[in-house]
Amino acid sequence: MREMVRETALRKTDLMLPLFAVDGTDIREEIPSMPGTYHLSLDELRREVETVSKLGIRSVLLFGIPAHKDEMSSEAYAAEGIVQQAVRAVKEVNPDLLVVTDVCLCQYNPLGHCGIVRDGKIVNDDSLELIARTALSHAAAGADVVAPSDMMDGRVASIRELLDKNDFDDVPVLSYSVKYASAFYGPFREAAHSAPSFGDRRTYQMDPGNVREAMREAESDLAEGADMLMVKPALAYMDIIRALSDRYDVPLVAYNVSGEYSMVKAAAQRGWIDERAIVLEMLTGFKRAGADIVITYHAKDVARWLDEANEL
Ligand code: PBG
Repeated sequence: MREMVRETALRKTDLMLPLFAVDGTDIREEIPSMPGTYHLSLDELRREVETVSKLGIRSVLLFGIPAHKDEMSSEAYAAEGIVQQAVRAVKEVNPDLLVVTDVCLCQYNPLGHCGIVRDGKIVNDDSLELIARTALSHAAAGADVVAPSDMMDGRVASIRELLDKNDFDDVPVLSYSVKYASAFYGPFREAAHSAPSFGDRRTYQMDPGNVREAMREAESDLAEGADMLMVKPALAYMDIIRALSDRYDVPLVAYNVSGEYSMVKAAAQRGWIDERAIVLEMLTGFKRAGADIVITYHAKDVARWLDEANEL
């Protein structure tokens, strides 16, 4: 009866799994602070996509770690860049897997900022062109959805315009609308080699104390043509998920970020918590708060646990 009257249930279709692609072959290197998450060369990525597909996961979020960085972040929008190759590889293995790409510059330039830097400042408007070009190159490679995470103002409009001009009007934009300047991204930055070389991301990412600003960010992204909104991180921002889901009638995505994952893994490794129970409870919480989709490094485990639960 308890199950029959349950209000919020987790489904495999709720899950999106982030994957990290790197150059080379035969590389499957575990990220030290994120046990169970790997840097994958394209051959290993293909293998991973087979596993993921068999588990019934329906979507992945692709990140690339380029071999070279330069001031213009040129590998971010190169036709043969690491993400562009990864998109094609994933689609070759499983054309039905929804491929979402993270659109940002921080992994691709030596300064590690999400936009172009001039005289020690991140210049918003001049960054938009490169960010839009990056999104376009992902769509051209076969990405189903592009997800800008850079937090420059106006990037959704720039991306929408460039995609439409190039006949990619059917590629939706999932905007990292409400992205806080958060310490929870620490392990990711180690994983993606994208820690800023100076300063921090507070000039473009949001202040954790703000909720009205979150509404404004969401509102402007929707006005610019965003199809889905994201709140990131998830755990410390459940009220933001709830507020956005009450206010806007678009699909809402919660990003259960790297630091949230690492904390669970570390405690589980010590036997201090029950990993499975904790993860399922957290993810159910994100959904109860109003998220339709959860991006999580736990996705493979969750898919297995849901299968086990169904076999009972
Ligand atoms: C790139 C980007 C970051 C994350 C996703 N895209 C890092 C950052 O903004 O510093 C974080 C993901 C995670 O922590 O799991 N801009």
